[in-house]
Amino acid sequence: MPTQDELKLAVAEAAAALVEDGMVMGLGSGSTAMAAVSAIGRRVAQGLNIVGIPTSDKTAALARSLGIPISTLDEHGRIDLAIDGADEVERGTLSLIKGRGGALLEEKLVAAASRRFAVVVDQSKLVDRLCSGLQPIPVEVVPFGWKSTAQRLTALGAKWILRTAPDGRTFVTDGGHYILDCAFPPFDSAKLLQQLDGVIGVVEHGLFLGMATEVLVATAGPDGQVTVTRMLVTA
Ligand code: A5P
Repeated sequence: MPTQDELKLAVAEAAAALVEDGMVMGLGSGSTAMAAVSAIGRRVAQGLNIVGIPTSDKTAALARSLGIPISTLDEHGRIDLAIDGADEVERGTLSLIKGRGGALLEEKLVAAASRRFAVVVDQSKLVDRLCSGLQPIPVEVVPFGWKSTAQRLTALGAKWILRTAPDGRTFVTDGGHYILDCAFPPFDSAKLLQQLDGVIGVVEHGLFLGMATEVLVATAGPDGQVTVTRMLVTA
């Protein structure tokens, strides 16, 4: 059977094939998006002409190392196509949970500026309902008074954990914020989005509703072959 990494590589290649000459591209973060950036880099080395808007310092460093010209959202407010990963994708609506990699704020800004937002995942990310509570929702908060913000999230039913970096220190996003990974009891995603948007101290959160225009999914067949399927919004 193919490994999860092989599935990620397959879906990354399929995403890179969506890129057309002259595009302004949103370059996502996370391992699947980084595989897509590498695949795009190979096309750039063969003469493809694009400008990439990276969503994290890590993605920017990778793009630079591959010779992909990069710019900023301020220079290019309209993006033709953004490619990014997700932690959970709801079949039908293509609603997403994102942010395990910690770049959700920049990812949401880039997705919101994109005409097409293509999400790349392997089959393990697909769910029938986002709101099963299985996947914590990353909530990005300002460090100033973060405990008060956390109390407001507790009042909404969240059980939160302050994200730490591998060295045990508090994880800090590229924008200088903290992340509270919040487990909620089963929820209505549209209602929760509204509630989170209204919490003072919350900068952004990992609920991406109505943003993805398509999802590319890599699936392993029974005999080990990998198929990449394109899903559109159907609900
Ligand atoms: C990055 O902040 C995240 O939103 C990622 O896009 C998400 O966590 C998916 O990452 P993987 O492709 O590594 O699973």
